[in-house]
Amino acid sequence: MDGTARTVNVGLIGLGTVGGGVARTVARHRDEYLAAYGIDLRITRACALEPERARELGFADEAFTSDWREVVGDPDIDIVVELIGGEHPATEIFEQALSAGKHVVSANKALLGRHVERLARLAADNGVQIRCEAAAGGGIPIVNALEHALVGNEILTVAGILNGTTNYILSRMTAEGLDFDEVLADAQRLGYAEADPSADVDGFDAASKVAILSSIAFHTRVTTDDVYCEGIRDVSAADIEQARSLGYAVKLLGIARNTPEGVDARVHPTMIPADHLLSSVNGAMNAVYVVGDAVGETMFYGAGAGSFPTASAVVGDVLALADAICHSDRPQAEIEPYRSVLPLRPVDDLVTRYYIRLTVADEVGALAPVVGVFARNGISISQINQLQDGDGTRCSVVFLTHEASERDVRTARAELAALPGVERVASVIRIEDVAAWTDGAEAND
Ligand code: HSE
Repeated sequence: MDGTARTVNVGLIGLGTVGGGVARTVARHRDEYLAAYGIDLRITRACALEPERARELGFADEAFTSDWREVVGDPDIDIVVELIGGEHPATEIFEQALSAGKHVVSANKALLGRHVERLARLAADNGVQIRCEAAAGGGIPIVNALEHALVGNEILTVAGILNGTTNYILSRMTAEGLDFDEVLADAQRLGYAEADPSADVDGFDAASKVAILSSIAFHTRVTTDDVYCEGIRDVSAADIEQARSLGYAVKLLGIARNTPEGVDARVHPTMIPADHLLSSVNGAMNAVYVVGDAVGETMFYGAGAGSFPTASAVVGDVLALADAICHSDRPQAEIEPYRSVLPLRPVDDLVTRYYIRLTVADEVGALAPVVGVFARNGISISQINQLQDGDGTRCSVVFLTHEASERDVRTARAELAALPGVERVASVIRIEDVAAWTDGAEAND
């Protein structure tokens, strides 16, 4: 150790999958942090429910506590790492740590997606920072890229595969021609999906990540509740096969665009061209595609979850803070979160093409009122395809539309569902205009 090395004390709250990865990563690389950066990084408090877990991770008994208040109240701790997730007591941990002048590093997308503005203000008032690289995209350094490397750009679009569970399910449905329920059950058995899969399959996890990334990218307030959200439960093997035959892949995308009409932020199953970069991201992997006006298209790929990938992001945040603690007076305080608050564009104002699959009575004249509903709502059909999946009494019919407004499609959908010859509006999937994602980027000459 040279004379300039300084000790930075960390309190780790939560020793689950990610907390364990953080403990093991720091233990593995502590000597290198000291040699390379002059940082003597010590996890001096480790908080979990059971002392056995702390022992298993190599913590001395004096470091262990089951009470998070002992960590945030410890005057020797510089950085609190919150890895318990959920809103409570994570909110109280943030509030008390920040008020006590401690920096907070967290992977808590649910909390930050809703309350980052208030917490960032509290951090600014106390001269400390919140860092949350692990909260969106797991190990992918996307928050750092948006906050630092790409900061000279106006960010136009962020579009990502932000949830590994749903990407795993859709990838297997695509590769094996299986339906959602079948793959979900298998994913649960293999540990890729939770016993209660709602946060993942209904899109809420991805919506929190869209809120975090769009707030950073566009310097504005987007909360999870501002993000239109639809999950993948209605996507069937038949839809994926139809998409494939039309040259598309079906992905659960989080899309955030800074448009002249406001910020467009949404999560839903999306058809994108099969040769788009995001279409090649399969299994549980995540990817974030970013368009900046100067840089043009970029894509960041990696593991969006898991012990060591997520720990990589957490430890990166801890070391960035530790570096500033060691080599300047203190890290810069959190800046006021937003320069301005941009309007949000309601999803009803979205104009895109749609794929609509109906289950209809297989009889003379059944399609006439269906076509009438589209016409009455000003929706122009570009293609109709009757699938050979019927039992003689009913069958699926797929309609592709020209560009239509979400508002009109919503009305048409309700009218279609009420028609006597329509058994079910089985799925409605937006076909994204990916060419528009680069609108506003400089020509590369
Ligand atoms: N459950 C998430 C996923 C990881 O499946 O990607 C944590 O956000």
